[in-house]
Amino acid sequence: MNIVIIGTGYVGLVSGLGYAKLGHRVVCVDRDAAKVARLDLGEPPFFEPGLYELLQEMQEAGRIIFTSDLASVISGAEIIMIAVGTPPLLSGEADLSAVFSVADEIGKSLDHEAVIVTKSTVPVGTNKKVLARVREGMRTAEHSELADLVLAASVPEFLAEGTALRDFMNPSRIVIGTNDALAASLLERLHEGIVAPRVMTTIENAELAKYAANAFLATKISFINEIANLADLVGADVTEIVRSIGLDPRIGPHFLKAGVGYGGSCFPKDVSALHQIAGRNGYDFKLLSAVIEVNNHQREIFVRRVEEKLGGLKGRTLAVWGLSYKGGTDDIRESAAIDIVKRLFANGAEVIVYDPMAAERAKEVLSDRVLFAPTAVDAVEGAEALLVLTDWPEFREVSFDAVRERMLNPVIFDGRNLLVDQHLKDLGFTYYGVGTR
Ligand code: UDX
Repeated sequence: MNIVIIGTGYVGLVSGLGYAKLGHRVVCVDRDAAKVARLDLGEPPFFEPGLYELLQEMQEAGRIIFTSDLASVISGAEIIMIAVGTPPLLSGEADLSAVFSVADEIGKSLDHEAVIVTKSTVPVGTNKKVLARVREGMRTAEHSELADLVLAASVPEFLAEGTALRDFMNPSRIVIGTNDALAASLLERLHEGIVAPRVMTTIENAELAKYAANAFLATKISFINEIANLADLVGADVTEIVRSIGLDPRIGPHFLKAGVGYGGSCFPKDVSALHQIAGRNGYDFKLLSAVIEVNNHQREIFVRRVEEKLGGLKGRTLAVWGLSYKGGTDDIRESAAIDIVKRLFANGAEVIVYDPMAAERAKEVLSDRVLFAPTAVDAVEGAEALLVLTDWPEFREVSFDAVRERMLNPVIFDGRNLLVDQHLKDLGFTYYGVGTR
């Protein structure tokens, strides 16, 4: 099939390459001409395992191209996907301006029947507004007779960064929300080759399901973080509690890793947006207010604990491992680690940081007095404590004998419980996890 995808962020680019891999002909459109030029040369704008290789493969196969000019590539597109960002407004609501301006642009140049698919995470009712704007544009452009043949569908993307391509090819489900049988059958064809249950549903259900999925996962994280805080107070160990409850299939073991809280480009924005959507509809979604509050507070609790155990932060030399919002990505958006480094710095600590991938991005947002070390072991030189803030698997492989020798005091605050099973106390460290013993 011929597909046009607008937006080459995580969702748009990964989906574009995924659909190309499935055998479709894909055109990716992005208004950022510099990004398009780089993609044309085979350079992805962000790191994601396997992305570079798949980009090369699909470009060589001639199945994917990049452009800034939607009007020049729209003819022949059976499916037009919107995958632009919906960042939070100050109110917490999703900013839909990019989605609507793309809808207007599609309306101006579309002169044939097609299915408009929204992949961006958008509030209930947005797909219908998108369709109305596309049709309105077509009428203005004197394509009134075709406007009613254009259909809409919501196909939310559930991929997670760091495993995006794997998630695209092996999803736990594909949700296809459309109120039209023809669009449903086209979208079935589009996803042929992906083995996963299909949830065929209405547009509104698909729109809300995406928010519900992220909000539920965020709720699990805040829940286990509260259990961890309580475990600290009563002398219990959250990892043992997770082992005990995770075996119950109704609960499951996933998304119950306690730590400094969730970050990234999706959870914080989507939980706030769902809270706002509820409010706008006259419903006070109390649980979500608590999820957000717990997550914000978790960072503060961590910093206060470091302060309390060290007897103050001012003038203390602290090493930090990890800046990205989770391991496996160079993305620092809404990263708890970045927030914590800023708080430590604001409290007068000297901070030396190391991250395997996110250092360049972090330099743009951290004070130039925060020092960047070239390796994990270099970061701990002379440090009075080491703070682990991102769950990079490679931190588990570091020689802790070397770490202990280079530190001034062998104290570790593990904000991800990443090293909880490494018997660091036996190696001479004072080790503090989140809710662990
Ligand atoms: C998430 C959803 O998983 C994905 O389905 C959706 O499409 C986009 O949002 P992503 O943000 O890439 O994906 O990462 P995810 O692995 O879900 O982690 C989100 C945040 O939660 C990270 O900061 C992570 O460190 C934190 N987290 C995750 C925990 O603190 N504890 C956990 O148990 C799991």
